[in-house]
Amino acid sequence: MAEISDVFFVDGMRTPFGRAGEKGMYWNTRADDLVVKSIIGLMERNPNVPGDRVDDVAIAATSQTGDQGLTLGRSAAILAGLPMTVPGFAIDRMCAGAMTSVTTMAGSIGMGMYDVALAGGVEHMGRHPIGANADPNPRFVAERMVDPGALNMGVTAERIHDRFPHLTKERADRYGMLSQQKAQAAYDAGKIQPDLVQVATKDNEGAWGLATEDEGRRPETTMAGLAALKTPFRPHGRVTAGTSSPLTDGATMSLLAGGAAVKELGLQPKMRLVSYAFAGVQPEIMGIGPIPSTEKALKKAGLDISDIGLFELNEAFAIQVISLLDHFGIADDDPRVNQWGGAIALGHPLAASGVRLMIQLAAQFAERPDVRYGLTAMCVGLGQGGSVIWENPHYNGKKK
Ligand SMILES: CC(C)(COP(=O)(O)OP(=O)(O)OC[C@H]1O[C@@H](n2cnc3c(N)ncnc32)[C@H](O)[C@@H]1OP(=O)(O)O)[C@@H](O)C(=O)NCCC(=O)NCCS
Repeated sequence: MAEISDVFFVDGMRTPFGRAGEKGMYWNTRADDLVVKSIIGLMERNPNVPGDRVDDVAIAATSQTGDQGLTLGRSAAILAGLPMTVPGFAIDRMCAGAMTSVTTMAGSIGMGMYDVALAGGVEHMGRHPIGANADPNPRFVAERMVDPGALNMGVTAERIHDRFPHLTKERADRYGMLSQQKAQAAYDAGKIQPDLVQVATKDNEGAWGLATEDEGRRPETTMAGLAALKTPFRPHGRVTAGTSSPLTDGATMSLLAGGAAVKELGLQPKMRLVSYAFAGVQPEIMGIGPIPSTEKALKKAGLDISDIGLFELNEAFAIQVISLLDHFGIADDDPRVNQWGGAIALGHPLAASGVRLMIQLAAQFAERPDVRYGLTAMCVGLGQGGSVIWENPHYNGKKK
């Protein structure tokens, strides 16, 4: 008999993130191969989990065409050498794709239908530029359901500045600079590297290379440098390349399991899922989406924002993270938030990023037995937010 079960994040790994475009390290690498690499890396690191025990593989991509099409969960499972008996499917919730892979698999595990699942995402923004082959229904604009700017994420970020004038460009710039500095400090301390799967690459001359680190980091960022940048989304605007997540290629993967499988296979999970929620907001200011989704997830968990000891917030844009922090009365530079930097520095391969947040939170939980709960949250195109609250299995009830 299937029984309601706890859901555990057993482990997660990802590829290093590359700069999208011809000069980026993955220009000659297929998107599905990035997924395959991350599945292989994760399964190799978890030899207690036999391949035939994986009940399903959910892989997200925003552009579901070409090397990101063909029912990625199934095609990547075959290419990764999982037994043919393992099924798989594809998911799309734009930027929250991988997060939705996790919550969807979590639902099946929680219902007792699955024991073990793989959940991840990929986006090769070089091969599949954001919105490239999209064909939005003209009714969106003709019937004034949404403003045309709602489909350009940078424009939606400018609108958050409009709506909350006290969230200034200077604050966003400082946030962007700190993200770069924190990411570099985390690299220097060797915090990020253990969860990266190395990927063989080929440059435009055909020479082989090895991707071992996130490529887009700019640790030398200064406030003066940021102040001088163009505002690509609006003349005399406030959002710049220094306060936006860059266009990125990469894939992420997580291994999830129910309580009985954890015991049976002798696994040591890195996090326990407490609650999750998604919410919709006006598409024109999509960046505030994680505010209502976090409120919903907290309510489901019976927790208050003050119970959250570590935050991993996706930095689609500095201003949208600041809007969430401001809403909850948290300082822009609160040490609980994105300790190892965020998407502004590390990159944001749309449908992959949700699991990158979870990988970093899991690694921080292991270092912080004084913290019981952590939050992963992100905004989503067309006006949504997604939030997942996790419990730290290392929690020992002692104050730091
Ligand atoms: C903002 C954006 C348009 C910039 O694209 P881009 O112009 O290709 O970005 P670049 O990396 O070339 O940066 C532009 C310039 O800013 C400079 N720059 C970028 N970050 C910098 C930093 N932290 N410090 C100093 N200079 C910086 C670059 O060196 C470059 O200078 P150059 O023009 O003299 O070469 C692009 O990254 C973008 O669209 N981001 C948002 C993606 C998105 O919407 N994701 C979904 C979220 S929901």
